[in-house]
Amino acid sequence: MSNLSVFSGSSNPELAMEIAKCLGTGLGKLELRKFADGENYANYLESVRGKDIYLVQSTCSPQNDNLMELLIMIDAARRAAADTITCVIPYYGYGKQDRKANDREPITAKLVAKLLEAAGADTVLTMDLHADQLQGFFDIRADFLYASGPLTEYFMKKKLSDIIVVAPDVGSSKRARAYAKKFGAELAIVDKRRPKPNESEVVNLIGDAGGKTCLIVDDEINTGGTVVNAAEALIRNGAKEVYVMASHGVFASNAIERLEKSPVKEVIITNSIPYRGGSKKVTVVSIAKLFAGAIGAMHDKKSLAQILRGGK
Ligand code: R5P
Repeated sequence: MSNLSVFSGSSNPELAMEIAKCLGTGLGKLELRKFADGENYANYLESVRGKDIYLVQSTCSPQNDNLMELLIMIDAARRAAADTITCVIPYYGYGKQDRKANDREPITAKLVAKLLEAAGADTVLTMDLHADQLQGFFDIRADFLYASGPLTEYFMKKKLSDIIVVAPDVGSSKRARAYAKKFGAELAIVDKRRPKPNESEVVNLIGDAGGKTCLIVDDEINTGGTVVNAAEALIRNGAKEVYVMASHGVFASNAIERLEKSPVKEVIITNSIPYRGGSKKVTVVSIAKLFAGAIGAMHDKKSLAQILRGGK
């Protein structure tokens, strides 16, 4: 594709490489390093003047470094006269702080959107935000993909029967309903409470999981508490087996160990965040084709409707 260049930040070079390959191009040459005092540095080693450039960077852990690196990459590209700068952010970090749940709290999801714009980004392409309402936080052009296309494609190949899709909390019930529709399956909802941040407990299960193959779907697995508690509740309620499917495998603290010890049979995630866990329970499904398809359509100024809808 002429005039298009894909560059990778440090967070997910494997996915960036895969996306570039799907687009029939390689990664552009970019030097990323740190000064002795820890400040980030970015330098394009090829001309970006007049080009449409796509910067692939998940703002996953270490979030602050990855975000700052992306901002610096945008700044360097703007100063090097790139024509358009699209931030390809498969995992949008700081997205969970999306409202004031208590007095005097920040809304970081909006702050990051403003930072990207201030640095000089023209467009953002991201996937499965914590809540769809976050789309309104972007005042520049932004497109939002869904991992459900590649994830359901993988799961359908298993040809499992008696599936019930489970929302692990009320907030994910809309997403779970969309998955249930795809599988022609029933829907169950877990009534989850968070006594404090990073802790969750199941209060109630709405739906009948008895004898069923349960598929818990969520946007992300962070500490693993939500899905492990839900899986245990499902087994207590007579479920045959439990699968978990999440767009983003954040896997903070001892999440992998927790999942290993849990009754969950398989955990299916995407490569929006590089998986370095080593658990045999975890299957990683690639989203490279999804992103390459979207980038190709954006670049050719073609409709993205099919790609966006196809995934939901
Ligand atoms: C919560 O609203 C989200 O959709 C996820 O359920 C949550 O981020 C998972 O967190 P954890 O794995 O720490 O329970």
